[in-house]
Amino acid sequence: MSKIFCFASSKGGSGKTVLTATFATFLTAIGKRTLMIDVDRATHGLTLLYLSEVKKHMDGIEGGNGTPKGLFDTPLHVSDRDVITLNSQVSLVPATYDFKEAEEFSHHDFTIFLRELLKKLRESYDFIFLDAQAGSDQLSRLAMSGKISDEVIIVSEYDPMSAAGVERLKGLLREELTYMRTWVLLNKMLPDFVDTFSDFLEVTKYLSPIPWDADVVRAYSRRRLALDLEYGNEYTLAVMQTLKGLLGEDIGSEIEQWAETRALNIRQPLEEQYRDAEKELEGLLKAKARYEQEQVKRRFAKRMSFLITSMLISFSGLYFVLRGAYSFSFSSKLMLALIAGGFLMVGIMFSFYYVQLSEKKREFGIEESRFVRQAGILEDRLKRLEILRKGDLKTLIKKRQEPVG
Ligand SMILES: Nc1ncnc2c1ncn2[C@@H]1O[C@H](COP(=O)(O)OP(=O)(O)OP(=O)(O)O)[C@@H](O)[C@H]1O
Ligand SMILES: [Mg+2]
Repeated sequence: MSKIFCFASSKGGSGKTVLTATFATFLTAIGKRTLMIDVDRATHGLTLLYLSEVKKHMDGIEGGNGTPKGLFDTPLHVSDRDVITLNSQVSLVPATYDFKEAEEFSHHDFTIFLRELLKKLRESYDFIFLDAQAGSDQLSRLAMSGKISDEVIIVSEYDPMSAAGVERLKGLLREELTYMRTWVLLNKMLPDFVDTFSDFLEVTKYLSPIPWDADVVRAYSRRRLALDLEYGNEYTLAVMQTLKGLLGEDIGSEIEQWAETRALNIRQPLEEQYRDAEKELEGLLKAKARYEQEQVKRRFAKRMSFLITSMLISFSGLYFVLRGAYSFSFSSKLMLALIAGGFLMVGIMFSFYYVQLSEKKREFGIEESRFVRQAGILEDRLKRLEILRKGDLKTLIKKRQEPVG
């Protein structure tokens, strides 16, 4: 036996249609059988949102079985074949299939018809959502009344005029919109108001508000919803929170399970990223150790080349000392000069080698600071990923958008 909710509002455009479709889609995704009925005779918002699927359903039936019936297509009659199963697996009774101006029907007959329709359908669903027309005309009043729906969600924007509208609606339908069966859902609330508003939630029958979200506008303009059923997003989190308040235990465990699976979906690539970063860091540290060893060798070679250079140059200087001190024969002088010249040449070569090693020292210095910088980045990344690996869905969704360094 399903619970029937009516989405109503005092002013148009507060977001009833988007919320009806969003709530129904989310509940279906967590395994609840959900039906939406477009009770808005003026704008057919829900029917238009799913127009291509409505038309496809109509074409499928029109083959030989006549035209399917929407809620307001006369004569009043809706059977199982007129209920569409949308791609999202949510069921929908559209306002109309033929989009002609419906003939005026008797309100009395419509009341009986709607009641019977709901009686027939409610066995097959866990939740039924009625998307009513804004304001308090006869049909909206009917949809809001206890005869038709179990509970009413008044969707309103967060401004003084809308708040006055909600009060006016509550005042007008005092008998029907009793505290027990009426919720107020503030929609399109600026995100910075949402936190402060939460303080009031305990004392008034307000549902957790839905923030204004550019993704909703973008999605709606393409006849889509902003829900992300694969990974979740901030909007989906807000919807989850509101539904928890509205349906409590009826969906508590399903929501937890859903959130856990999404968290796993997000964590899976993070685990890979973590392993990759670990490997990268390991490789970097190994390369750094190799560089350090090379540097020790280089330092030794540099010292040795300095020593050898100075020794060889000193030896070549010895030639002049010896030449001044002793008188040598021409051939001995020549030999000594050759030896001294040889020492000098080799000494000069070693001095080049020494300069080369000094150059290398500079290169090593640059390389070393690159290692340190890269290792620092990788370590930060690992720390961040470590926090995320342990985070809940909310943390994961918030951090998912940020670059991982
Ligand atoms: N949370 C949100 N953030 C930003 N825009 C939103 C949000 N919810 C709804 N909207 C936008 O508000 C507009 C009206 O939404 P919607 O058609 O659902 O309102 P409605 O109450 O059904 O209107 P009507 O009274 O005409 O049937 C749409 O353009 C939609 O994109
Ligand atoms: Mg609407």
